[in-house]
Amino acid sequence: MDEKLTTQAGGTAAVDGTTKFPAIYAYQADGAYRVERREMNLAELPDADVLVDVAYSSLNYKDGLAVTGLGKIVRKFPMVLGIDLAGTVVESRSDLFKPGDRVLGIGQSLSETSWGGYSGYQRVRSDILILVPERFSLSEAMAIGTAGFTAMLCVMGLEHQEVRPESGPVVVTGAGGGVGSFAVALLAGLGYEVVASTGRTEIHEYLRQLGAASFVSRAELEAAGPALQSARWGGGVDTVGGTILASVISQTRYGGAVAACGMAASSELHVSVFPFILRNVALLGTSSPAPPRSKRLAGWERLARDLPADALARIAPRIEPMSRIFELADEIVAGRIQGRVVIDVKS
Ligand SMILES: NC(=O)c1ccc[n+]([C@@H]2O[C@H](COP(=O)([O-])OP(=O)(O)OC[C@H]3O[C@@H](n4cnc5c(N)ncnc54)[C@H](OP(=O)(O)O)[C@@H]3O)[C@@H](O)[C@H]2O)c1
Repeated sequence: MDEKLTTQAGGTAAVDGTTKFPAIYAYQADGAYRVERREMNLAELPDADVLVDVAYSSLNYKDGLAVTGLGKIVRKFPMVLGIDLAGTVVESRSDLFKPGDRVLGIGQSLSETSWGGYSGYQRVRSDILILVPERFSLSEAMAIGTAGFTAMLCVMGLEHQEVRPESGPVVVTGAGGGVGSFAVALLAGLGYEVVASTGRTEIHEYLRQLGAASFVSRAELEAAGPALQSARWGGGVDTVGGTILASVISQTRYGGAVAACGMAASSELHVSVFPFILRNVALLGTSSPAPPRSKRLAGWERLARDLPADALARIAPRIEPMSRIFELADEIVAGRIQGRVVIDVKS
């Protein structure tokens, strides 16, 4: 490929098929799953209608699973990892985008069957991309990333189920993680009384600043209890699954709802039907990679409108070079990351 392209938003960078950039590349060799950081060039990228000069990606639990190989995320080899990306359009064959547009991609097939955001440049199908809301810079868009978008979808699910601030306290589990932190901030900003569940007492002050009114320990929710427990929650956002999700469901008030999006503790759920048939509790599945474009646009519009002004500063996302991705992946699967990590994909 011998194309001459010029980034308009960046202004100066001219790129062609030989332009080199780093990428996190997964492949199979002798039946084994391998991941390495390698130097690539534009000519190696797959065909897709939008070429993006990627500025940032982010670190999510799912990225941790893909980079470490602890989870089967990749469904087509070889693959460039990274489920999120934000950058500037360099070239577009789509009517939806033009050179210079600031775009983001969250989930969809990125890092599964389409090459993802851990790459200095990427060719991306236009149906995966949306414009970055004006309120956010590219790094802020990635500080939010899949985590913030998922939290927003959980909140929208609770609203759809008519869980209102007056319905009672809303519990957020895995509150110190990426999804949990945004769920706490969004719900508190919308006027809900948020009870944060965390295994780390040392982050109580951080969660209080995000808007948590009080705390329930991870250990308390981890203890298995009867099918119907004392009704405490108007609703819940669960990022951890397993016994903790079962406890939240069994402690939810009549007519309440629990948005389940994660499995940081377990992908299993053993629960009685009693909360559903006696208390009318709703369990809401939440998937961020899959929603249609209309829902993605609605979610990002809500984030631009409803994320409290100080939330990003309080979550204090750190920007890390992509060269550290292997250590960072180990940290997130071990549950040692607080808040959000933005990945500078050019370094
Ligand atoms: N459905 C979707 O579309 C979607 C989208 C994004 C993420 N997810 C899932 O949501 C979950 C959270 O993602 P994330 O990016 O927020 O990850 P994260 O930043 O690593 O946060 C996970 C949090 O869960 C808690 N935790 C970790 N291990 C635990 C354990 N064994 N038992 C109980 N709690 C534990 C910790 O919170 P504390 O330290 O505060 O206790 C940790 O900070 C993951 O399972 C991820 O795969 C799903």
